[in-house]
Amino acid sequence: MPVQPWFTACRTGDPDLDAHHDALIACLGTLYRLVVDKAPAAEIDAAAVAAIEATIDHFAAEEKDMVRAGIADSAAHASAHQAIRSRLMALRTALAAGSANAGDALEALNAYLAQHIQTFDKDLAEALGQRRRQA
Ligand SMILES: [Fe+2]
Ligand SMILES: [Fe+2]
Repeated sequence: MPVQPWFTACRTGDPDLDAHHDALIACLGTLYRLVVDKAPAAEIDAAAVAAIEATIDHFAAEEKDMVRAGIADSAAHASAHQAIRSRLMALRTALAAGSANAGDALEALNAYLAQHIQTFDKDLAEALGQRRRQA
């Protein structure tokens, strides 16, 4: 499965964040495998929706972590989440309407993993680590 190897480059160093991201990668891996195997469309669409919802849930968990840890400069990170969340929610609607497909979901989620984790989430992991060392 080709997603996992390059994902190791996205390690944040925070065990909780990395565990969440691994779960998202597992969802993407499932979706990718179903597409490659030409599974029934309903099964592929269900996996795409599951991957989208797991990502949206992950953003909420990260935002709670930011608030709980008192991360001062979290507004830009939360705003980046909101931009992706809006895109994913529109995609979920388009999937239900038949005007988007699993390829669109894979592209959107891969973009999140490649760009967002390597920037905002790595910065968050560093801030969480500093909080832990100060505690
Ligand atoms: Fe994340
Ligand atoms: Fe994030």
